[in-house]
Amino acid sequence: GKEVILVQTFSENISDELMEVILAANTAKELGARKVHLIAPYFPYLRQDKRFNPGEAVSQYIIAGLIDRCSDSITIIDPHLHRTKSIKDVFRIKSKKLSANKLIAEYIKKNFKEPVLVGPDVESYKWAQNVAEMIGAESYIYRKKRYSSHKVKVKLHKKIDIKNRNVVIVDDIISTGHTMLETIKSLQKKKPKSISCVCVHGLFIGNILKQLKKKKVKIVSTNTIPSRFSKIDVSGLIAEELKKW
Ligand code: R5P
Repeated sequence: GKEVILVQTFSENISDELMEVILAANTAKELGARKVHLIAPYFPYLRQDKRFNPGEAVSQYIIAGLIDRCSDSITIIDPHLHRTKSIKDVFRIKSKKLSANKLIAEYIKKNFKEPVLVGPDVESYKWAQNVAEMIGAESYIYRKKRYSSHKVKVKLHKKIDIKNRNVVIVDDIISTGHTMLETIKSLQKKKPKSISCVCVHGLFIGNILKQLKKKKVKIVSTNTIPSRFSKIDVSGLIAEELKKW
């Protein structure tokens, strides 16, 4: 007769962790839980929202369907939504999107002197521009073309003077990190004082950390996926949300 809240971080072996959620949620129901709620600081499989190559699975809808079947609600921090506009179009169950932007804004304000914020692609305005507005900083948004999972090109359609400035690139996810790498390469030509990369979800796939280290940039993420770069704690954000329930 009780409500059960499952918190799953999806941080190491996402498919195993998904299976844990399915088993735990179904078991809670079987043992009499009135409702089961899933809180996923990071929720995987959302970026594949269309069939990019023939025969590929559109994981966003398939995985959402699995959660729909075992949970009564889902809460996600900064879900990656691109072609699907709202989280409500992904899940059939009650869904809620939280944002770490306020926490990122506080971190940047405290740790960087007169920062210039940069978004590496059009969608990143939801993070870079929004955070910049919160702290009254300038922001610039790049345009990006993705050729494959490991190949992207970025371009800025505006002149920017960032010489001797502290530039902070803000995005939702660092996955293969190529979006960040290409943006860093472009920014470095403009001789900034420092370049930092701040993201919500630090996946850091493959050897990207080695490559970013060579670029001498500071990397910061939240702890939706815990790592040594997790300097921004999102647990308060979840606790605040739960107080409203
Ligand atoms: C894309 O739209 C996202 O906002 C990120 O820019 C992207 O997911 C980063 O991917 P990667 O690190 O593999 O370039």
